[in-house]
Amino acid sequence: MSSAEIRQCFLNFFTCRGHKVVPSSSLVPDDPSVLLTTAGMQQFKKYYLEPDVAERDLETRNIVSIQKSFRTSDIDEVGDDSHLTFFEMLGNFSFGGYFKKEAIELAYEFITRELSLTVDYVTIFAGDDQVSLDGESKKIWQTLGVKDVRERGRADNFWGPTGAEGPCGPTTEIYVNNLEIWNLVFNEYYCRPNKTLEPLTSSGVDTGMGLERLAMAVQGQNNIFGTDLFTPLLASLSDALPLRI
Ligand code: ALA
Repeated sequence: MSSAEIRQCFLNFFTCRGHKVVPSSSLVPDDPSVLLTTAGMQQFKKYYLEPDVAERDLETRNIVSIQKSFRTSDIDEVGDDSHLTFFEMLGNFSFGGYFKKEAIELAYEFITRELSLTVDYVTIFAGDDQVSLDGESKKIWQTLGVKDVRERGRADNFWGPTGAEGPCGPTTEIYVNNLEIWNLVFNEYYCRPNKTLEPLTSSGVDTGMGLERLAMAVQGQNNIFGTDLFTPLLASLSDALPLRI
């Protein structure tokens, strides 16, 4: 499957299941707390606080998008087989619509049925002194037949906020070929600038899956540069810059 087909397959899958397509926002966000757009949820931040406004503005609570994203938080790993600064993030979102069960079931169906990939294992939030273990997600995965459910701490399985404050929550992550493919965030809290967490009045879903990494798994490549997102570019570079000895 080509990367163009993966994009279309993702959008079709979620539109057939009641999601509305919203185009990528600009890489330069209107959110002053960040310099560049780092995640699909960024243009929707306000809707996690006011789902009714989402319904009014978007005519739905469930969204799908492919967001241009730029990230420097893992810059030390950029240049390895699977990390980029700029990438496309496939994501589905719900603002007070569905929550953990539907989000996990949709992700599992997309990965295993639409793309015929095998889930190696998943991770869930292990809990800490502020937020308890995400036993609900664990049960949902086990009901789907995924036996290898690993518990991870805040550094790995708690996401957000972007910038100084905003929605955030525990995550569950899907691993394929031992690579993190999809991050499902359950926004249950609002993080204040002083790092205190306040429960949101309505829970939300925010997911992100890097197209380049997904294409690597779907196209059976060992690194992102072997996918069809990069091979034409690399070929034209080597044509334009012939090796001179
Ligand atoms: N917002 C989450 C992320 O960027 C999905 O990983």
